[in-house]
Amino acid sequence: MTANEIRTKYLEFLKERGHTIVPSVSLLPDEHTVLFTIAGMQPMMPYLLGETHPGGTRIADSQQCFRSTDIEEVGDNRHTTFFEMLGNWSFGDYYKKEQISWMFELLIKEMGINPQNFYVTVFGGSDQIARDTESVEIWKGLFAGVGIDAKDIDNAESDGMQGGRIFYYGEKKNWWSRAGVPANMPAGEPGGPDTEMFYDFGDTGQHDKAVFGDVCHVNCDCGRFMEIGNNVFMEYIKQEDGSFASLPSKNVDFGGGLERMVAASQNQPDVFLTDSFEPIIKRLEEIFDAKEGLNDYKSEPRVYRIMSDHLKAATMLIAAGVEPSNKAQGYYLRRLIRRAVRFSRIHPFMHANTFGAEVVKVVIEMYKDQYPELLEKKDHICDVLTKEETKFSTTLAQGLKEVNKNPILDGDIAFKLYESFGFPFELTEEIARERGQNVEYGEFRKAFEKHQEISRAGLEKKFGGHGLLLDTGELKAGSEEELKIVTRLHTATHLMQQALRDLFGPAVHQMGSDITAERTRFDFNFDRKLTDEELRKIESVVNEVIQKDLPMQMIVMPFEEAKHTGALYFFKEKYPESVNVYFAGNTLEDAYSKEFCGGPHVTHTGEIGVFKINKEESSGSGVRRIRASVA
Ligand code: SER
Repeated sequence: MTANEIRTKYLEFLKERGHTIVPSVSLLPDEHTVLFTIAGMQPMMPYLLGETHPGGTRIADSQQCFRSTDIEEVGDNRHTTFFEMLGNWSFGDYYKKEQISWMFELLIKEMGINPQNFYVTVFGGSDQIARDTESVEIWKGLFAGVGIDAKDIDNAESDGMQGGRIFYYGEKKNWWSRAGVPANMPAGEPGGPDTEMFYDFGDTGQHDKAVFGDVCHVNCDCGRFMEIGNNVFMEYIKQEDGSFASLPSKNVDFGGGLERMVAASQNQPDVFLTDSFEPIIKRLEEIFDAKEGLNDYKSEPRVYRIMSDHLKAATMLIAAGVEPSNKAQGYYLRRLIRRAVRFSRIHPFMHANTFGAEVVKVVIEMYKDQYPELLEKKDHICDVLTKEETKFSTTLAQGLKEVNKNPILDGDIAFKLYESFGFPFELTEEIARERGQNVEYGEFRKAFEKHQEISRAGLEKKFGGHGLLLDTGELKAGSEEELKIVTRLHTATHLMQQALRDLFGPAVHQMGSDITAERTRFDFNFDRKLTDEELRKIESVVNEVIQKDLPMQMIVMPFEEAKHTGALYFFKEKYPESVNVYFAGNTLEDAYSKEFCGGPHVTHTGEIGVFKINKEESSGSGVRRIRASVA
């Protein structure tokens, strides 16, 4: 079935079962804590928490979503930045039995998915919440009904391929909340166990034992299994004391990626080779007179796949009202367009004409029935895209001139290109590869640090060794890998300092810090032991900021001016006339954390991963010490 057929089938199926079909809300949510609509449940939050939905207790839709965190993954067989999430909700109406049975009927009977290729996972239980044996019994009955052995594996975190169809996993996999696992959820956040559905495409030839382990399982990254839907039984709400209470009613929150369901229904393991992308890729191939093999996801490069995703997403973002800029949503739009342009120049046979508007036309043709506003906005979308494309082409051309002046590309040149022309490292890397040369990320990073060190040394000389506050002297990393972790820990440390101040007031500040690849060790002035609850609170505040994926930005400012921005600094230190202020946020004014600092930091807080406090202890009179790590 095609994408349009599946969307229609899904909505009709739920309509027949008493659901009100509601339109997709904007990709730009009303809620200001998140930049984009990233899940179908996002606009449903008030109703999950107990408000009455005007459409009743049964709602279904196809929601446009955009996930900036997946941008680097795009090009494999299943990750896209823009996607549509088919969703249905029960607000205190039906529950597990109906939801699971309907999904089985829809996928197996209506969409024709072979039950032999169908697997499910179920919540295996945690300290606070019991394992979901009820869902297992329902699944077992359904599998038996089509003659399949549904033996479940009776241990949490099983490897998932020991025979059978139903697998228990713990809270890392089968618990859903916007903040992830229960420990990361802030008070007031709803969540619950889920049962996820997977399609088995068979061996993709991608299972590398060294990377993925001996046994391929449903949550393996090799691309064999693809999650096609998630039934969340949202019945809990996190309390201030860390425990869980019941929501006013037991809700169902189902979300399934349309593009993935299409792939499963076509037994096509690659979403880019389904009609969700094929017309776009075909147009790109015409424009660039494609060479065979370029689009194979198993081999590099994946230019058409990336361009098709990015230009589709850009079309939808512009239609939602985003303009390219350096902040907030505009930043992501700019990044998508620039990446698309950059990938369009990677091969010598590709040309430098603008092409985005041509692709927009194809995207609109694909989606005009579902989203008629695209037709009205066609000229505007083409205009915005072409302008940004043209602008970036100039930068790119200047950078390429510099590239051509250098017969050998190395880390220093990669850094110069990055600094002077905004040339992303990967671009220099790609060009080097075409020339049969090789630039290692490590060399680029070293050049970057050398540059920082030179500025720091200059400052230290000038100020007798008391230069910047958080210079790399505090960070200890022995290798490239370590440096990446240390960088994440460093940004996490900034966020933690702010979280401590949120909780205990602005008198609390850093007394010292030491960061290695294993942990950050942070000392601050405070006169008693922190309770477990306080530590969990700090953790969850930091993880929330991480989840928001705020840009981590730096501006250079005169010291006197910087002092008045509210950025943190050491009063006793002497500072140079101009200082670097790092801030986590879209603008300096509304940033979550601001500090005078020498870096390095991640570019977006989302890169930090999950932040965890491991220990809190005394470090002298009136000073406490926290050790924390990231995973
Ligand atoms: N909220 C769940 C998800 O995004 C199901 O809709 O996966």
